[in-house]
Amino acid sequence: MRLTTYCFSPTGTSRKNMMAVVKGLNPDEATHNDYTYYNIEKGARLDEVLSSDDLALFSVPVYGGKVAPTALERIAQVRGKETPAILLVTYGNRNFEQVLVQLADFVRERGFRPIAAAALVGEHSYSNAQYPIAVGRPDATDLASAEEFGKQIANKLKDRDKETWDIDIANNMPCLETPEASLQAFRLFVQEYTRQQQANPVKAYPAASPEACSHCGVCVELCPTQAIAAGSEEVTDATRCIRCCACVKGCPSGVRTFLSPFAKPLSENFQMRREPLYLL
Ligand SMILES: Cc1cc2nc3c(=O)[nH]c(=O)nc-3n(C[C@H](O)[C@H](O)[C@H](O)COP(=O)(O)O)c2cc1C
Ligand code: SF4
Ligand code: SF4
Repeated sequence: MRLTTYCFSPTGTSRKNMMAVVKGLNPDEATHNDYTYYNIEKGARLDEVLSSDDLALFSVPVYGGKVAPTALERIAQVRGKETPAILLVTYGNRNFEQVLVQLADFVRERGFRPIAAAALVGEHSYSNAQYPIAVGRPDATDLASAEEFGKQIANKLKDRDKETWDIDIANNMPCLETPEASLQAFRLFVQEYTRQQQANPVKAYPAASPEACSHCGVCVELCPTQAIAAGSEEVTDATRCIRCCACVKGCPSGVRTFLSPFAKPLSENFQMRREPLYLL
């Protein structure tokens, strides 16, 4: 089995989940394309077309109930020819909605055929000490489960005829149950937030206090969209920032912060433990 992976993972949870699945797959050969830091200047292989004998794996995070738009931009050039593909989405314990259907349509248009899919859990990008959301996920239990899924995919490819590999995500992917009170409370928050934004469109971005920032430059390296300039790390270029929180979680001094207005309602309403969901 020759595996090629495509990943976008600013805070690392989609990558961790993906590597657990890869461990279970145990491919003969693997090429990992990490598109988190891909840009034209750094160079990326855009000319490759995978064949029907290859196996592709896409791993991306959920942003606002959709695939993170930057991930789609970066994998848009990838092409297959009837190439079997594993689809993984990682979400922050709220919901993944129709993201796997969206990703399946996206890769199908590019020559891939989805043969396995999973909705996996990662610590929410907005989680912080005051408003924790899925802290530490994926944990050891999640990773063991993802590895087992990888093994099951390998068995399916070995034991079953190629014609029977395809999956129907739209009709067969298991859904999440959320208590009605949590859904209602979160809906009310979103309505109020949208009303406020329409009246006064002010968006928050991560920033560091100028006195506390040591200008170590770690956040410059971690930012997937070059929204932080070396030498003036305390500010964020709002035109480039996607609020992924890689800089916040990676700042070694803990001085880069982002108080998303969503953190409190997410923490209050999505404390229940979501388990990984699979379709094979
Ligand atoms: C802008 C943004 C929007 C998000 N929207 C959702 C969402 O709709 N549902 C959800 O459960 N998690 C949501 N999350 C949380 C991420 O999906 C989650 O933290 C994921 O583990 C991040 O992946 P990464 O570690 O690979 O960057 C969002 C995070 C960000 C930054
Ligand atoms: S990682 Fe933190 S301390 Fe280092 S430059 Fe960025 S904000 Fe400053
Ligand atoms: S500046 Fe914005 S895009 Fe860059 S790492 Fe921080 S949150 Fe992500």
